[in-house]
Amino acid sequence: MNVLVAGGAGYIGSHVVRELQEAGHSIVVYDSLEHGHAQAISGCELIAGDIGDPVALGSVFAQCKPDVVMNFAAYTSVAESMADPSKYYRNNVSKTLVLLDAMVHEGIRYIVFSSSAAVYGEPLRVPVDEDARCAPTNVYGETKLMVETMLAAYDRAYGLNYASLRYFNAAGAHPSGDIGEDHDPETQLIPLVLMTALGLRPELKVFGQDYDTPDGTCVRDYIHVSDLASAHVLAAEALVEGLGSRTYNLGNGQGYTVRQVIETARRVTGREIPAVDAPRR
Ligand SMILES: NC(=O)c1ccc[n+]([C@@H]2O[C@H](COP(=O)([O-])OP(=O)(O)OC[C@H]3O[C@@H](n4cnc5c(N)ncnc54)[C@H](O)[C@@H]3O)[C@@H](O)[C@H]2O)c1
Repeated sequence: MNVLVAGGAGYIGSHVVRELQEAGHSIVVYDSLEHGHAQAISGCELIAGDIGDPVALGSVFAQCKPDVVMNFAAYTSVAESMADPSKYYRNNVSKTLVLLDAMVHEGIRYIVFSSSAAVYGEPLRVPVDEDARCAPTNVYGETKLMVETMLAAYDRAYGLNYASLRYFNAAGAHPSGDIGEDHDPETQLIPLVLMTALGLRPELKVFGQDYDTPDGTCVRDYIHVSDLASAHVLAAEALVEGLGSRTYNLGNGQGYTVRQVIETARRVTGREIPAVDAPRR
């Protein structure tokens, strides 16, 4: 397959690029590099550009002639999405609309979209399946649900087939150790725990001790980034083989509390990892 990977210089995208390369596919990465890392990409072309730029997209599509587009390009901070919703609706929704229109214009029929478990909000039952009610509790989750709504309409109207992949919390790094998670600012638990273990942060804040969980701290489902990467390749191949549009949860089906994550990191690293209790966010 020829694959255009938008947002491919970011954390998850760069791991998917590696997986696509190992599977022998031909790739062009397209990323604004606002949050991505050019050094995370090797062995394929990296074009700096914005998914909200229809002219640039037109020329990239003409050059790369993708069978499939994968779209990782988005802003990802829940807290920032609440403080500055305009920034999130614009980047995650309006600019994705520009990308979809450019695809329809060029006759590109398949897209793999990075959705999120944030579309579910507070789940009514666990484990959460794909038919669970979608009721996001933050702007970030709303932007993902809005794109899913657009994808369904574009499928009905223009025959654009999609795989919407609702990730739970991505974790881990490529086995080679030369790419991994590097967000700035970092908001994800496991990198924050490991930065504290390294002494780069004085302590870790544990937000909330009164959740209805075994130890009172928040439970999250973590999925390894290598598993995410192989799921993307399978989803793209299934689209091209004619499976049709689908929505999938990507998690491991097992939740872990914040304290369990910290304890595991203490055991594995042998470091103290100071942690202090803080109110729920
Ligand atoms: N990390 C997670 O646990 C997680 C969970 C659920 C969903 N997601 C989704 O997965 C995707 C990738 O997440 P990530 O953790 O790798 O984030 P990331 O910030 O590392 O990667 C996003 C990439 O998109 C690029 N980008 C952003 N806006 C762009 C634009 N307008 N045009 C071109 N490039 C643009 C950034 O420069 C960056 O390289 C995002 O859509 C995110 O919402 C992530």
